[in-house]
Amino acid sequence: MTYNKKSIEDICVKGKKVLVRCDFNVPQDEDLNITDETRILGALPTIKYLKEQGAAVILCSHLGRPKGEFKSKYSLAPVAKRLSELLDCEVKMAEDVIGESAKTMAASLQPGEIGMIENVRFHKEEEKNDAAFAKELASMAEVYVNDAFGTAHRAHASTAGVADYLPAVCGYLIQKEIDVMGTALSNPKRPFVAVLGGAKVSDKIGVINNLLEKVDTLIVGGAMAYTFTKAKGGNIGTSKCEDDKVEYAAEMLKKAADKGVNFLLPVDTLATDHFAADAVPTVVPTMAIPDDLMGLDIGPKTVEIFSEAVANAGTVVWNGPMGVFEFDAYAGGTRAVASAIAGSNAISIIGGGDSAAAVEQLGFADKMTHISTGGGASLEFLEGLELPGIACLQDK
Ligand code: 3PG
Repeated sequence: MTYNKKSIEDICVKGKKVLVRCDFNVPQDEDLNITDETRILGALPTIKYLKEQGAAVILCSHLGRPKGEFKSKYSLAPVAKRLSELLDCEVKMAEDVIGESAKTMAASLQPGEIGMIENVRFHKEEEKNDAAFAKELASMAEVYVNDAFGTAHRAHASTAGVADYLPAVCGYLIQKEIDVMGTALSNPKRPFVAVLGGAKVSDKIGVINNLLEKVDTLIVGGAMAYTFTKAKGGNIGTSKCEDDKVEYAAEMLKKAADKGVNFLLPVDTLATDHFAADAVPTVVPTMAIPDDLMGLDIGPKTVEIFSEAVANAGTVVWNGPMGVFEFDAYAGGTRAVASAIAGSNAISIIGGGDSAAAVEQLGFADKMTHISTGGGASLEFLEGLELPGIACLQDK
């Protein structure tokens, strides 16, 4: 899927009311303190540009899954507060989404001012992409900017429907995400290496299939690897396995062989007898895990092989941890792969979600070319699917 969409620089915003859909779905602790502000920082270039151009900026987003009802813990007020600090100017906060408060705020915003309406998911119409609700949102503005890459895979009223009623363009964040990932998929610097991990083959079926058309090497780690190992006739003990995906895994191994893609699976595994942080690991061959043991991370020989493949890459795309990295004893594989990617000269693209969190936690974030702000969205992009939040925008 290649996109050539108009951006905020291709439209006049001076003196206009501009509705900007961001993805401010940020994690918070019990006291509603924001614990990771990557997505807020990611939205700043677009907001600053619009402010400097003299637009009146109306921000909107979802936060969490409030299921169509007002719930104070899902309010965007803490985000507005943090944005005010980061932008060093007031971000006015409305009390509702399309009610009196939002509309009065939107109408009174002057050029260069910024306001935020409440969580769009306080209305069930948002996720249904209800036309009347989209029209109400659109009625507050003259231009629509989508910069919510993390939600671009959802066809909701504020991410797609609203584009039926306003001239619609993308912001800098979406533009950057599609530029970097689009180039990696369509014209990668080679060798192109993809590293996939995580628990479920079923989550990544489309991604594996699409990437096999493009990469030189596909590395599979994480619990997913055991389904592939079983497909190769290995003994995986009590390791996680999706039995209904073994046949699919065998097909993918065959596809890789037919296409000449180097398909790397773990050769050794850190295995143990129960799933716990303090369970003691033993190194065993991945093809012959004893019947009473389960694999929880890749072993030292595998770390060497995976790291070498990554070190020599021109482009690396990584999505999903190599093991149960929330248990310290089984975090080594993920840490080593992150370190190898960080130390390589490759263009490095980290899918959102767990791998982005791992890279941040391990302190490698500034060594990567691009860390996507989208978990599900980046996976769907890598799968080659059309993202409704981008498809709805005006073509150049
Ligand atoms: C995300 O965090 O992946 C996005 O904000 C989308 O959230 P959702 O899965 O609740 O639609």
